[in-house]
Amino acid sequence: MKNPYAGIEDEDRIGRTIYSKHCKFCHATKGKGDGNQANLLQTKVADLTIDEFKNQTDGSIYYKVYTGRNEMPGFEKIIMEEEDMWMVLNYIKKFLRAPQTRGFNPQSNNSNRPRATYISCPWSI
Ligand code: HEC
Repeated sequence: MKNPYAGIEDEDRIGRTIYSKHCKFCHATKGKGDGNQANLLQTKVADLTIDEFKNQTDGSIYYKVYTGRNEMPGFEKIIMEEEDMWMVLNYIKKFLRAPQTRGFNPQSNNSNRPRATYISCPWSI
């Protein structure tokens, strides 16, 4: 199974939103598996930042999230749109890229992306 959205930026933050809503309380903000609910479970929550995770194909990650296992819920009936599912996968795969650059990156030359206009606002003091 190929990822039809490989390399596509999650401009609308669909992946991030779904992750925050459905995954973060177990997998944690950075994917380490130490979310708020993690210690209430019998099964160790998978760490999504390690090599074993990285070495899988997108297809097998998709399958795991779709079907679930043990206390990992299956999202077949929760994340209904295939595109949404791929966006979450693209999002969680970003945990593997360290260190993360956050926020506005002036060096970025991704010119396809519409940018907000930054109005210069001089400090008054
Ligand atoms: C209720 C807690 C819980 C929630 C919510 C949850 N997970 Fe999990 N997840 C787990 C547990 C526990 C495992 C380990 C399952 C096992 O090993 O049998 C796991 C395993 C996984 C794996 C397999 C990792 C590997 O090493 O192969 C992936 C991928 C994953 N989760 C992604 C997600 C995504 C994406 C979401 C949200 C859409 C999510 N999980 C929501 C608890 C959770």
